[in-house]
Amino acid sequence: MRRESGARARQAEHIRLDGVGLSYFTPREETEALRDITLAIGKGEFISIVGPSGCGKSTLLSLISGMLKPTRGKVSIDGAEVTEPSVKVGYMLQHDHLFEWRDVLGNVTVGAEIRRMEKEAARRKGAELLARYGLGDFMRHAPAQLSGGMRQRVALIRTLVAEPDILLLDEPFSALDYQTRLTLSEEVFRIIKDQGKTAVLVTHDLSEAISMADRVLVMAKRPSTIAAVHEIDLDEGGQLSPWSKRQAAKYHDYFNAIWKELDGHAVSPL
Ligand SMILES: Nc1ncnc2c1ncn2[C@@H]1O[C@H](COP(=O)(O)OP(=O)(O)OP(=O)(O)O)[C@@H](O)[C@H]1O
Ligand SMILES: [Mg+2]
Repeated sequence: MRRESGARARQAEHIRLDGVGLSYFTPREETEALRDITLAIGKGEFISIVGPSGCGKSTLLSLISGMLKPTRGKVSIDGAEVTEPSVKVGYMLQHDHLFEWRDVLGNVTVGAEIRRMEKEAARRKGAELLARYGLGDFMRHAPAQLSGGMRQRVALIRTLVAEPDILLLDEPFSALDYQTRLTLSEEVFRIIKDQGKTAVLVTHDLSEAISMADRVLVMAKRPSTIAAVHEIDLDEGGQLSPWSKRQAAKYHDYFNAIWKELDGHAVSPL
């Protein structure tokens, strides 16, 4: 367990937070969500964030994406301060927010259209990714004709068509049943690795957090800081799937250590 960012992150720094704090202001009160977060994330790294509900995990992702500006400190991507929503960042959320009136191909090109990517190029890229990741036969289907897991895969591909370097995943599997969640987390992990993206996953599922990540960040209660950082070392060759990592003997050691830090009530013990 270490409190500082990992050696891997220092080698090829991609995202950096320096003394970041965030307070929400309403006319009547100030809510201090995050306090003094310092963190470096390396290119291609997979980070999981766990912590009690309301501690500021989603807020942290919004800061990285540039949708929120820090009240204190600085967020940078590739050495440049983030001052507005960054095109380098893509989001995957709990709800897929697919447009029911567009077919699957029409949905995956939405983000690219908003970014004014050339329409034909976006459609080519969308079709290629759908085919590569098992949805080639569903391009002309309406979202309502897909299962929950397929819809989330479409949502991920929509994000990838816009070619972000960084993927922020905010509880992307939590609305799905357990079996679908397991299968989809395997698939999403493979897609992210295959595409060489940097990923930050927020989850309440500790097994998911450990089996997918290079590092797990544990956040404390609000005003939240990073309480602990666990370097996850279950896969020396970098070839194992999250499912295989769950079978490793050391996996249970990580689980128990992080579980204790969370006081047992922030995540579900799956
Ligand atoms: N727009 C807002 N205005 C005021 N307070 C907010 C706003 N958004 C979030 N908060 C507060 O900031 C704190 C952190 O919220 P955040 O959504 O980041 O938590 P979280 O860790 O993602 O929680 P959960 O696990 O339930 O998703 C909470 O106390 C929340 O009430
Ligand atoms: Mg949240």
